[in-house]
Amino acid sequence: MKNSKTQVAIIGAGPAGLLLSHLLHLAGIDSVVLESRSREEIESTIRAGVLEQGTVDLLTQSGVGERMKREGFVHHGIYLRFNGHSHRIPLSELSGGRSIMVYAQHEVIKDLVKARLDAGGKIVFGVRDVRLEGLDSDSPRIHFNQDFLSCDFVAGCDGFHGISRPTIPAASRTDFKRNYPFGWFGILVEAPPATDELIYAHHERGFALVSTRSPTIQRLYFQCDPKDDVNNWPDSRIWEELHARLAGPDGWKITEGRIFQKGIIAMRSFVTEPMRYGRLFLAGDAAHIVPPTGAKGLNLAVNDVRVLSQALVSFYEKKSEDGLKDYSTTALKRVWRAEYFSWWMTSMLHRFPDDSPFQHRIQLAELDYIVHSRAKAVTLAENYTG
Ligand code: FAD
Ligand code: DHB
Repeated sequence: MKNSKTQVAIIGAGPAGLLLSHLLHLAGIDSVVLESRSREEIESTIRAGVLEQGTVDLLTQSGVGERMKREGFVHHGIYLRFNGHSHRIPLSELSGGRSIMVYAQHEVIKDLVKARLDAGGKIVFGVRDVRLEGLDSDSPRIHFNQDFLSCDFVAGCDGFHGISRPTIPAASRTDFKRNYPFGWFGILVEAPPATDELIYAHHERGFALVSTRSPTIQRLYFQCDPKDDVNNWPDSRIWEELHARLAGPDGWKITEGRIFQKGIIAMRSFVTEPMRYGRLFLAGDAAHIVPPTGAKGLNLAVNDVRVLSQALVSFYEKKSEDGLKDYSTTALKRVWRAEYFSWWMTSMLHRFPDDSPFQHRIQLAELDYIVHSRAKAVTLAENYTG
């Protein structure tokens, strides 16, 4: 594709970039997606698992929800587990009927890549040396490989470590951040589900989370040192830790199985403001990160591109720049709400290195409050389901 032109150049084929390209295509707007990794890599990277109702609705309405509806699992509640007992939070009952869908992020990616390629969409995989130029003009240029792409707008959907955000001069943005002194150790296991709904467990040895992927594959996480190495964790040590954090007087036990994937994830909260610089619009993890405890990252990325696609449609169809002007403010409202929720869930459920026995008791008091107060449980349910 030597020196070509498109309406919207999209950097990154994560959920944000691919869904934006798909939504623009449905409105007759041309885009090109530039992705540094291969198709095989993006379709196999293990990440999120929980989709909010709004995400499920948008994927369904835009015609890419068929396999998700068939293979995903609708959940109407979650469990909070502490002091060795599980307490069900009936999400649907508390949130006016909303639910969540457990469907892996890389499956969403596969569905979106297929939809784009089937429709003749252009995704360039394995691009190198991406550089943005002319963002303060009407015709920015993206340089990559030995090539360039001219466009009307650039969507920076290249995740937290991408080049879009750092391209914005430091004086034109404000970054807000908080790092957490722990990470998550995530595993995939061949085993039947040990629970009918997700379990978020508070324990003095640290947080643990029991999620699922299919009737034969389960997804488990536990709080760990973010600088730890997966090689320090033979399978026997992982099971010992999970049993210790999840066992209780109620006799519930996690089901063991063959572990076939291990990884450690850092935890941070991060927001850059505004999410726009000239003709560059940031969306998803490129603009903000939440710790995964609230299961919000992918859902925020989806909300950003829903708002951004509407603004771009309005620009091309009605020659109105209002949506583009409001994009950052509109998206950031939802972002900060999710930042708050994710920080709250993280703070309530994890052990901090400097925790005193007092703070530990305060966490337990808050968890107990949630399971005994409808008002407090509604707060959790409304935020969790989106
Ligand atoms: P990404 O998915 O990071 O995609 C960015 C893409 O840009 C990548 O494919 C990358 O290769 C590409 N790229 C980077 N740099 C360049 C460049 N210079 N040029 C071209 N391409 C580039 N969220 C939830 O909502 N629910 C959950 O249950 C949940 N659980 C999670 C569990 C874990 C373990 C982790 C790590 C995350 C979880 N998240 C969850 C968060 C979620 O995975 C992210 O928020 C989501 O991937 C953000 O999508 P994105 O498209 O913005 O960015
Ligand atoms: C999963 C990930 C999360 O961050 C979360 O809060 C719940 C479930 C998952 O990968 O299944």
